[in-house]
Amino acid sequence: MAATGTNSNGASAYYVTTPIYYVNDRPHLGHAYTTVAGDVLTRWHRQRGEKVWYLTGTDEHGQKIMRTADANGVTPQEWCDKLVEEAWKPLWQHLDIANDDFIRTTQERHTHRVQEFVQDLYDKGEIYQGGYEGPYCVGCEEYKTPGELLDGEGGAKLCPIHKRPVEMLKEENYFFKLSEYGPKLLEFYEANPGFIQPESARNEVLQFVRQGLQDLSISRSTFDWGIPIPWDPKHVIYVWVDALLNYATAVGYGADPAKFDATFPADVHLVGKDILRFHAVIWPAMLMAQGLPLPKRVVANGWLMVGGEKMSKSNLTGIAPQDLTSHFGVDAYRWYFLRAIQFGQDGSFSWEDFSARYTSELANDFGNLASRVAAMVGKYFGGALPAATAAGAAEQAVAEGLAKAVAEADRKIGEEIDFAGGIAAVFDFIKQVNGYLTEQEPWKVAKDDSPEGQARLATILYTAAESLRAIAVLLNPVMPGTAAKLWDSLGAEAALGALAEQRIGQAADWGLLPAGATVTKGDILFPRLEEKKDA
Ligand code: MSP
Repeated sequence: MAATGTNSNGASAYYVTTPIYYVNDRPHLGHAYTTVAGDVLTRWHRQRGEKVWYLTGTDEHGQKIMRTADANGVTPQEWCDKLVEEAWKPLWQHLDIANDDFIRTTQERHTHRVQEFVQDLYDKGEIYQGGYEGPYCVGCEEYKTPGELLDGEGGAKLCPIHKRPVEMLKEENYFFKLSEYGPKLLEFYEANPGFIQPESARNEVLQFVRQGLQDLSISRSTFDWGIPIPWDPKHVIYVWVDALLNYATAVGYGADPAKFDATFPADVHLVGKDILRFHAVIWPAMLMAQGLPLPKRVVANGWLMVGGEKMSKSNLTGIAPQDLTSHFGVDAYRWYFLRAIQFGQDGSFSWEDFSARYTSELANDFGNLASRVAAMVGKYFGGALPAATAAGAAEQAVAEGLAKAVAEADRKIGEEIDFAGGIAAVFDFIKQVNGYLTEQEPWKVAKDDSPEGQARLATILYTAAESLRAIAVLLNPVMPGTAAKLWDSLGAEAALGALAEQRIGQAADWGLLPAGATVTKGDILFPRLEEKKDA
């Protein structure tokens, strides 16, 4: 697929967003999945030397939040403040998420601009008053069409996502003329085939829009936890219109034109597949109506499943990320979900699969390689990295393997947003270096005291250490803590500077780590897993 949205001219930022999360409850693995993915994408582009802006935040209005606050005997604002500060922000910190901003939809920088946006559309004749009656799912905060509902017990009609009864709502509302945008949207999708990813998501949206769009109810008058409609404050703005606008208000829409122009539109909106239509249909139509530029890509990820169902708090399958990080560590956690699940597809989490991959790929393949090389440089050369004076075909093959891994990882992660493919390219290279050591048997070569023998030993260990130098650079976006430890143990900081400053584009330049670098045996990168506590 063609690359879109890179900013090689340096003029504008590569702008990445996550959905803003409902704060009716605490975060679970499903939420963390997208946020970690966005973080890896962000760090990857930063490591390419690009300017990146990574935005996440919380969606705080609407009926769902209001009901939760009521049930807990606090105001919605108090509820949101508590959850954001006690659960959401600390989790992102814990998972090493390097977001540039955190937007909350109750912040004034957002609410005022949302009112201006909606007022503008009203003034342009894009919004009119009308009535609507239909089945509504509070979990989705969305009117459903009767055809998509499931049959429940006692004749109840259920939301296909939440499997809970919908409510019949009848309201006098304001409507956005979404129906008029169908043809323009189809034209846009046609002209921009990479706009919606993966292909299955694109097809679903095309099919949906081709059926014809209905106008969108953009206000609610039966409750008041939302942003008032400026010309008719008995109504609040529909929570999805409010929420989607975070991508604009957070980067200065209507407030800071220089920042807005340098950032907006998003290069990548990462979204779960259940909220694809909002991002690929409603959001672009809202922008078209306002004459604003459209995002470059909307990338839908699949769901993390438990027992064949979407993991969620509402069906009590939501697992807290901390339950896994306390066992596997933060970096293994960041790595696992992107490595094990093809981005875009659903995936099942299992403790056994995580443990098995941890042990084979992280502890055995990667961790052992790092500790063996550091130990041998220590044992045979007193910790001073020797020069490679006797390189031959075997070393050439390692350098070529690295070049291939860098090109492939950069294409997959940096362009195609295929994390599993990109990480696999790096771990294939790790396997190659392990194979190289097994074949070259430096522990045997060490017994040969001749100058030739010592030159071979030096060359083998240099080759392995130089490979690790590049591996640290390539894995820094995925496992920043581990990559930093490795960088440290190679003495690379003193020789080459900060790890974050190493460019992906130069990662394959062979011979960067200078002979003489101080190699130390640092902490074990991936300790053996303890027995699962409550197994
Ligand atoms: N507030 C809206 C998004 C507004 S964006 C302008 C919302 N919030 S949410 O908290 O319900 O969901 C946020 C994201 O989490 C969605 O992308 C959703 O797909 C994702 N996930 C929730 N459960 C999930 C899994 N079990 N697996 C993967 N992602 C899941 O929708």
